[in-house]
Order: sequence, then structure tokens, then C-alpha cells
Amino acid sequence: LTVSPLPDARYAGHADFVQALRGLRGDPLQAEGTRVVIHRGNAKAKIMVIGEAPGETEDMEGKPFVGRAGKLLDAILASVGLDESSVYITNVVLRRPPNNRTPSASEVAWYLPYLMENVRLVDPLIILLAGACACKALLPLEKQGITRIRGQWFERRFGTEGGLDGQGSRLVMPIFHPSYLLRNPSRKVEGPKWLTWQDIQAVRRRYD
Ligand code: URA
Repeated sequence: LTVSPLPDARYAGHADFVQALRGLRGDPLQAEGTRVVIHRGNAKAKIMVIGEAPGETEDMEGKPFVGRAGKLLDAILASVGLDESSVYITNVVLRRPPNNRTPSASEVAWYLPYLMENVRLVDPLIILLAGACACKALLPLEKQGITRIRGQWFERRFGTEGGLDGQGSRLVMPIFHPSYLLRNPSRKVEGPKWLTWQDIQAVRRRYD
């Protein structure tokens, strides 16, 4: 397992973090011409969505979830009145894996401290984990698959200064990855799309 260097410093603010990451070198997915894809949305949002890794469109545009899966994610969020002003969107892995393969455990482990720092800086109340990769990275003790844990609330304290003072506890909900929904587009009751539309309503109720 390659262990990532911790981000050198705790960054003073989100803008510093983004600037530092733009110069990221030596990471496991660094390859000629690939970009570091960090975020879109509001860095002060109370809701954070964490996906897997950038795809081709994201690599080209330099923003997460801007391809087909991203359009569907936006539609899910919009169904309860959420958009880039109320949500912050990022990925576990900051660069596109070759041919969009699933990032390996060691790649995920390498980028994880950066994600933790991002969570600390944005300081969301609610974190949505889109798909299995984000769930494995952030809820590693949950051995059940996404189909079992989606829509459930977990309370976690990661991405904080730590301590047992009850500060910075976050509500975490796994949801199906929008790419999975693109492959399973049926809207039938109890199907993955229908369930996701229920899940986002539960998120909206917590947010209000
Ligand atoms: N899938 C992801 O997990 N993230 C993206 O940014 C795009 C597609």
C-alpha cells in the first residue's frame, strides 16, 4: 500500500487548498495531460457530495460531475431544490484513472488525506457518498453493500480536528452512484432510481 504524504499543511482556507492542489505532483494517477479535478459548487455549502473519480468530461473541463452522470446528479439535487449554491461536489480520487477503471485501494488511500482536509475546510453538515468507492473510503467498517446501506444516516466525525468534544459531527448518507442509475434507468417503485429520489427527499428534510 502506498501511503500518501499528508497534505503539508492544514490549509488556512478552501482557496489555498485548491491552489496548492492545482500543483499536485507525484500522485499515483498523475499522467501526461491529466488534470487535478477538485470541486464545483459552494465551498460554504452544508451539503457535500463525494463521488469516485473524474471521468473523461471531468478531466477535460476540470470540474467533477459535468458529464452524463453529473447531469443526472444535478437533476436528483434539483428535484428537491438543491443546486451549486447549496451543494459542494467532489470525488475521492482527484484524477481520472486510465480508461475510467475503478481506483485501487492504494490509490484511494493516497488521496484520502486530501479529501479529509477538504471536508474539514468545507465543514459540511451532511455528506452524501455516491457509490461504493466513496462508501468504502469513508465508511470502511460498513461491510454491507451500497444496496443495503443507501438511504441510511450514519454519524461520523472525520475531517475534523478530532477530539471527543462532539464538535464537527457529520451526517453521512450513502446513495447510489448516478452512473449506476444511468445503467438502471427504470423508474419502477422500489427500483434504484425511485429509491434515490426518496433518499434525496430525506436529505432535504434534514437540511431544512
Ligand atoms: N463519476 C464520478 O464519480 N465522479 C465524477 O466526477 C464523474 C463521474
